[in-house]
Amino acid sequence: MIEILDAEQLAQAEVTGRLVGDILQTLRERCAVGTNLLDVDRWAKELILGAGATSCYVDYAPSFGRGPFGHYICTSVNDAVLHGRPHDAQLADGDLLSLDLAVTLGGVAADAAISFVVGEARPPRSLAMIDATERALAAGIAVAGPGARVGDISHAIGEVLTAAGYAVNLQFGGHGIGSTMHQDPHVANAGRRGRGYRLRPGLLLALEPWVMADTAELVTDSDGWTLRSATGCRTAHTEHTIAITDDGARVLTRPGRCTADG
Ligand code: MF3
Ligand code: CO
Repeated sequence: MIEILDAEQLAQAEVTGRLVGDILQTLRERCAVGTNLLDVDRWAKELILGAGATSCYVDYAPSFGRGPFGHYICTSVNDAVLHGRPHDAQLADGDLLSLDLAVTLGGVAADAAISFVVGEARPPRSLAMIDATERALAAGIAVAGPGARVGDISHAIGEVLTAAGYAVNLQFGGHGIGSTMHQDPHVANAGRRGRGYRLRPGLLLALEPWVMADTAELVTDSDGWTLRSATGCRTAHTEHTIAITDDGARVLTRPGRCTADG
């Protein structure tokens, strides 16, 4: 199903989106060498419930996972790239951490992810990989105006990832979002211009480029949820929820957004 939001829902989407951006920023600031992933999950729970929001994850039981996720945030470290299940492990200097968070507030969901390196180390290839996903996301947002097609976004994302030297996996990608987290249309991280659903004002999309350093193949962890690179290489993932407006795309999940310019 594809939802087109009305003005009231779009105003709520701004509020939900900013909350997601703010929580991710807070968690990023708290994550340090020695932080336990279970603490990150507990902080996420406190911040979500403290804001009067509900988690889109805790009871989520899709076909690509094993039973309800049972946690409030995805914590994917190094070779883990998507759906990283928080567990009893401490962050080390130079770890590449991806945090992915979706909540519902006032009946509207928002979904975002950030990747960053923990501590003082500055591993160049990890930083380059994060940068590629951020540039791919920006390229997808730049073409996501009314009248454009989903394939235009996929193409723009895929061009950046491919030019940066990464093979694109098409098993998981972006998606429509609205009253629930995962809706149509699917937004693959590579594709052909001019194809697919035509974007309309009021549509919310979560765009989420992700890559693995030297492979496009995923393996599922024995926890039944965490998706890792098949080769054990590092990975990165960046995501924003955007709203299609008459003027173009508006990013909803930036932290601390308090101006109207997105
Ligand atoms: N937020 C993820 C996405 O970007 C989905 C995570 S589902 C979970 O689509 F259950 F693993 F949390
Ligand atoms: Co998403």
